[in-house]
Amino acid sequence: MTASRAGGPLVLAVESSCDETGIALVEGGRRILSNVVASQVALHAPTGGIVPEVAARAHLRWILPVLDEAWQGAGVSWADVDAVAVTRGPGLAGSLLVGINVAKTLAWIHDKPFVGVNHLEGHLYAAWLRDPGQADGEEPEFPLVALVVSGGHTFLVEMTDHLTYRLLGQTVDDAAGEAFDKVGRLLGLDYPGGPAIQRAAGDASRRDAVFPRAWLGDSYDFSFSGLKTAARRTVEAARADAGLREPEEHLPHAAVAELAWGFQEAVVDVLVTKTIRAAVAAGARSIVLGGGVAANAALRARLAGEAEALGVPLVVPRPGLCTDNGAMIGAAGARRFAAGERSGLDLEATPSLPLAR
Ligand SMILES: Nc1ncnc2c1ncn2[C@@H]1O[C@H](COP(=O)(O)OP(=O)(O)OP(=O)(O)O)[C@@H](O)[C@H]1O
Ligand SMILES: [Mg+2]
Repeated sequence: MTASRAGGPLVLAVESSCDETGIALVEGGRRILSNVVASQVALHAPTGGIVPEVAARAHLRWILPVLDEAWQGAGVSWADVDAVAVTRGPGLAGSLLVGINVAKTLAWIHDKPFVGVNHLEGHLYAAWLRDPGQADGEEPEFPLVALVVSGGHTFLVEMTDHLTYRLLGQTVDDAAGEAFDKVGRLLGLDYPGGPAIQRAAGDASRRDAVFPRAWLGDSYDFSFSGLKTAARRTVEAARADAGLREPEEHLPHAAVAELAWGFQEAVVDVLVTKTIRAAVAAGARSIVLGGGVAANAALRARLAGEAEALGVPLVVPRPGLCTDNGAMIGAAGARRFAAGERSGLDLEATPSLPLAR
């Protein structure tokens, strides 16, 4: 094993929890040397959702080519690597197993320490990442409030220090990303629904559609199932008015755009309002946004505006680092490695792993 590099531990990180195969080399939990992601979006588009066995087989096919590409141009070799990190959960069991077994094998062959990482912690630690050539800049300051909005999760946490989380609230039903995907399907938009709804909403010329917001009193919990039902009823009524009966017949784009805009506004309104309220209550010195839905331009813009008005810096990774990738696992893995954590080669996949500690 080599001594740690001057810039902090060099971590080779593997992510395969869902439908993206990602491998990255990250230095000091911040600097990305390489970050390669093979997306399965095209593979799952015909089914409009992820078929777990198909996802696991695609990870198997792609993970070694992704590893080869991750070394290219990174300017480092195995001798420089201090630890191997891997997503151990939450996620799809078959998908997680591919990454975990590849990471274990690499750690064993190259005699490197091995660290299992929580995928949700990865989404949070994406806020610390820097692209090649980008200045180090300020780090998010504690205490901070973080909103993680992804395909399977939606929660608010307070962090008073690294790797220390206090759950403030979470969704009581669907995740925000799941709601985007389901409503995208209802509107006849492309898979995945999140980016498609953002694009359609951008085309809205009329901005009159109003959908319900579930405030759930003073709590920091979220609920999107009522909104989803309201969207379904509105779409069904609009289709009946337009005389559309066959599933392959779609509403005119102007109508779809207005409904997409109204739905997106309702989600963003609740997410931003609760995050700002939590930041005030916690006396937060920064606000962090992460997870695939954090790629949403309306959410980013509204939260940026309200955080600025509050005088609290908002840290949001660029969109490509909000959706699943290996670099975010390298960022979190480096923190755990530096804190002395090691996993055994008997580490198991934990599909419903909570964010803890
Ligand atoms: N621009 C966007 N606007 C809204 N949603 C988006 C956008 N881009 C991606 N998403 C949504 O992000 C989700 C994917 O995020 P991510 O990759 O973090 O989820 P996941 O890894 O499947 O779930 P989890 O992280 O909870 O295990 C999808 O639901 C997708 O629709
Ligand atoms: Mg994710």
